[in-house]
Amino acid sequence: MTMPETALPPVVNIAAALGRFSEQWAQRRIAGVNDYDVKVAKLEGEFVWHSHEDTDELLLVVSGRLTVRFRAGDVFLDPGEFVVVPRGVEHCTAAEEETAILLLEPAGVVNTGDAGGAMTKAARELEG
Ligand code: NI
Repeated sequence: MTMPETALPPVVNIAAALGRFSEQWAQRRIAGVNDYDVKVAKLEGEFVWHSHEDTDELLLVVSGRLTVRFRAGDVFLDPGEFVVVPRGVEHCTAAEEETAILLLEPAGVVNTGDAGGAMTKAARELEG
């Protein structure tokens, strides 16, 4: 990120960003950190099993409750908690009620990783 010394960096309000879209399983990019994207998404139901061969993936719960399934078992995340999914490790996210998360991972990472399929969606810039 570059900007003139006379400017201020934008303050990003996560809740406000989440209020600007309703589509589930569709990541919105809200900021960049070097080569990483900071993204938010709303999840409900169960995703597809997948892995990301080349990168770790941070998943932080903002609201709701997230289950992250691994072949070794499930982990449960409440608001304010996060997990880093290691590169190459199969995982599947699930949420019984609509759950909002923040993701941190390199720009261009695809949500379904190596699995592909109908739920594949490129992250979009948050509009408005
Ligand atoms: Ni993933």
